[in-house]
Formats: sequence, C-alpha cells, structure tokens
Amino acid sequence: MIRSFLKDTDFSRSEAAEVFDLAYRYKTMRSAGIIDVLRGESWGLIFFKKSTRTRLSFEAGVYELGGHPMVMNASDLQLSRGETIEDTAKIMGRFLHGLVIRTFGQDIVEDFAKYSGIPVVNALTDLLHPCQSYADMFTIMERFGGGIPNVESLKGRKLVFYGDTACNMAYSLALAGSMFGMNVVLCGPEEFKPAPVLDSLFAEAHLPSNYTFCSDPEAAARGADVLYTDVWVSMGKEEEKAERIKIMSPYQVNEKLFSLTAENSIFMHCLPAHAGEEVSEDVLRGPRSIVFDQAENRLHVQKAILSTLVSKNRQAAKM
Ligand code: CP
Ligand code: NVA
Repeated sequence: MIRSFLKDTDFSRSEAAEVFDLAYRYKTMRSAGIIDVLRGESWGLIFFKKSTRTRLSFEAGVYELGGHPMVMNASDLQLSRGETIEDTAKIMGRFLHGLVIRTFGQDIVEDFAKYSGIPVVNALTDLLHPCQSYADMFTIMERFGGGIPNVESLKGRKLVFYGDTACNMAYSLALAGSMFGMNVVLCGPEEFKPAPVLDSLFAEAHLPSNYTFCSDPEAAARGADVLYTDVWVSMGKEEEKAERIKIMSPYQVNEKLFSLTAENSIFMHCLPAHAGEEVSEDVLRGPRSIVFDQAENRLHVQKAILSTLVSKNRQAAKM
C-alpha cells in the first residue's frame, strides 16, 4: 500500500518528529545545493484553487530535492471537460512519481491516491491543510524550543485559533496541535463551530479530542502562547462573504486580545491576510507576528514531508 499524506495524522507522532528534524537539516543546509532524494522523478502539482505560497514552495521544493515539478492548473486538464478523476489519476500514475494536489473535497485527494498508485500530498482541501499545520508546528518549536525543533516544547502550549472554526486551518491545527499535546482552543461564532467531522477525524486516528470550542474571544485569549487566525472567507465560500464578515467581526485578533495573553505570545496566520478584518494591521505588522517565518518554513517542512514519504514507500517496497 503506497503511503500518502492526506491528513495531519497520516504520519505518526514519531514520524512527524522525523519530518521536523529533517526540515531543520534542510533549512540549515539549503545553501549546500540540490539533494538527490527525488532524482529522476517527475512530480505533478495540480491546483483546482488559487495559491501563492503552496505553489512556489512545492515547485522550488521538488526542484531542490532533485526532481522535476510539473505545475498544472486543473482547468487546463481534460478533467475540466468531463474526464473522470479515476481516469486522470490512472494516467498520471503512468507518467509521474508523485502528486501534490490543492482542491475542494477531501474525497478528490483520496480518489487520486486510490487510482493513481503513486503518493499524493494534500496541498489544501476544504477539510484540511496539513502541510501548513506541520510548518506551523515547526515554526512554534523554533520560537519556543530555542531554535532547534523539539516536539516536547509544544506540550502544554496554548494555541487559540480565531474566526471560522469550521475551516481547513482550524481542523488541521486542532489535529496537529493535539498530536503534540498542545492545548488548542477554537474560538469563533456558534454559527461556524466545528462540525462533527472533526471528532470523526480524531476518532479515526485514535487521537483523544484535545481541542475545545469557545465563543468568548477574551476568555480564550487568557494565558495563550499563540493567537492564530485565517481569512473569514475561505476559497469557495465567497457567496457567504457579507454574512461571514458580520458574524466574525467580534473575533478580530488585535492588541486588546494580546493584552490578555502570556508574556512572550506570538501571532500566526497562514496568509494571505486581510488586515482590518481577521487581524488588525498593527498586530499583523507588529513584533509578535511571525507570519513570514511561517511562510518560509513551508518550503523546508514540505521538502521533509516529501522525503519522508518517499523513503517510507521505498523501504516498504524492499520488504
Ligand atoms: N497559506 C497558503 O496555503 O497560502 P497559498 O494559498 O498562497 O498557497
Ligand atoms: N482557509 C483558507 C486557507 C488559505 C491558505 C482557504 O481555504 O481559503
């Protein structure tokens, strides 16, 4: 069975720790040049949705691992003229060595993995954004663990995610944070509270549901180490924009919330940000904000995710 990375919990806790160690090595050794991990391999990067960070970091990352990245806009493929996912995936499996996919339903990445016979990496679905949450865990460790990633430094840290707590980022942070013993609080309006699918994801992974939901923004901020937010209108939800902005406005991350947090608390956002909506301009641009470190770490962590995945698959093929 070829392994893919479709959910945050597709790596065990110890495998994820290996990913972070490797990401640290990749980050510190980057200037040494191309590594041979994907030599001779072509990886397809398929985008059904817009992207800046994910596209650039994967395209550069596959190249830096010695492979050939092939970026495809889904609207340029025969898929957009009715060819099935099953046939598309089977064809891609004949040409490529792996796929990175940004799309809508989680079922789409699952079907690509099922029919292609090659490893598939989830580069964001409506349900999850596991590459981002892994980069975020790495970035929090860098900040609180003295530079070197040490998963123990995540234990007991309080991360509060504000806004649309039923979105991909909220779910991935709840899952990845819980894997490493963080205290994850999802804080937003009742109308956008996590759906039962989040508890199913925890149950499937045999992971205790360590997150809590809270609708009081100030109560949630007390003693927090990380205040995290994401856009109030995720890709595909544009029709609900006016309603979402109205309901979520009490959950803006601003200096008032930071006055309640732990002393060395930090601000995180997966980006792109809408300053003045989910985060105030002064917090986004202020000294607590580590958003550009987060973005840079996508590259190092995704290279480590790809390497770990291919090495697990190669080991399994030898057995
Ligand atoms: N954070 C993130 O995934 O950014 P992009 O949408 O630009 O890829
Ligand atoms: N929740 C956002 C994340 C963007 C990186 C979206 O899905 O649009």
